[in-house]
Amino acid sequence: MDAPLTFAAADSPARDPARVFPSPADFPDSPLSRALRQPVLLGLFLPIQAGGWSSSTLPRSTTWTFEYNKALTLTAESLGFDLIFGLSQWLPKGGYGEVLNGQALDSFMTLAALTSVTSRIMLISTVHVLYGPWHPLHLAKFGATLDHISGGRWGMNVVTGHRAVEHEMFGWSRIEHDRRYELATELLEAMQSLWTETENYSYAGQASWRLNEAFVTPKPLYGRPILVNATGSAAGIAFAGQHSDIVFVTSPAGTTFDHAVRSLPAHTARVKQAAIDVGRRVRTLLNPMVICRDTEREAWAYHDAIVDHVDRSSPAAFGRFDSDAQAWKGQEDRGTTAARAVGGNIRLIGSPEQIVDQFIALRAAGVDGLQLSFYDFAPDLAHFGDRVLPLMKQAGLRL
Ligand SMILES: Cc1cc2nc3c(=O)[nH]c(=O)nc-3n(C[C@H](O)[C@H](O)[C@H](O)COP(=O)(O)O)c2cc1C
Repeated sequence: MDAPLTFAAADSPARDPARVFPSPADFPDSPLSRALRQPVLLGLFLPIQAGGWSSSTLPRSTTWTFEYNKALTLTAESLGFDLIFGLSQWLPKGGYGEVLNGQALDSFMTLAALTSVTSRIMLISTVHVLYGPWHPLHLAKFGATLDHISGGRWGMNVVTGHRAVEHEMFGWSRIEHDRRYELATELLEAMQSLWTETENYSYAGQASWRLNEAFVTPKPLYGRPILVNATGSAAGIAFAGQHSDIVFVTSPAGTTFDHAVRSLPAHTARVKQAAIDVGRRVRTLLNPMVICRDTEREAWAYHDAIVDHVDRSSPAAFGRFDSDAQAWKGQEDRGTTAARAVGGNIRLIGSPEQIVDQFIALRAAGVDGLQLSFYDFAPDLAHFGDRVLPLMKQAGLRL
């Protein structure tokens, strides 16, 4: 079945595809601008889904529950992290095996709830903007509401859905990859216009949403909420250049640190250039899995234990859902046992000093921010705060 997003060609196209909207980064006192004064942005990738990123049965505290994620958020905020983030996925029964079993809190709801228990940290919800479909008027109103509740700290990770099975759950066949970005572009134009326009506003997309004399008030405090997307494709990078403040990048070549530092410089430069081309600026954020212990030997022992406990039900499950995501197509080692058991887009392993050295190298490769995942989130985040963060400050990575 076709996605119910396509209207007949509009008779009165009201859109200006070259329009550049204001960003909270244009306002010096916005939470985003404050965070961007840090040499490296620091984020935490919350495990609101069972197993976080790691398909391993080695015992740990990590759980998807709200109370656990709330406690992590408060710890991250007290450690001075700039942002927290939660992913969104729609998996059929069984998910990706016994560990990554698909149990998950909704990202939009969870991060929205966390706005009111925090005071400084930015919170990024993932929203599949084409599912439903959401109307841009809904999302503009929800976004303006969360912007006011959070004091400009809330943002949206705009995703279009790469798994065929997810689109099918919503009742249609997966929309073609680049077409999804065209539809998302129209939604973003309509949504951002509603955040900006001071009069009733009508919009006629070429392919999708319509607005007729629509209005949203209050307006967001700093132009609009923070916008993020994750991509590695040409269409997604062009979209990011036009609309995003932050782009989640992956290592184009592979999941190890060596792969990442070699392949990232050209990639991050390309992503940033896409924004420069339209008179904007984006920051790149990478999400490593950090396996750190006081010594290199202990860190590798921890790593090896995670890998030894790889979820044996997951190899079959991993290929279970067809994905057309291009961002990690070049990662030949993605299916290895270590990549599955530890997870994350790349793995950083070592002593606190070695982890900071790797951060420094990633920054030199054009990575503006690090969004960290851990295996056993609560104790590993505490260890990171005690042992790694002070070294980041000494190295000039954090103020
Ligand atoms: C850090 C990170 C977080 C992501 N979070 C989500 C998510 O929550 N939901 C989702 O459907 N896709 C998520 N993705 C996948 C992206 O939405 C996208 O499908 C992928 O990066 C491929 O995009 P591309 O085909 O334009 O390269 C994430 C990717 C990265 C790197």
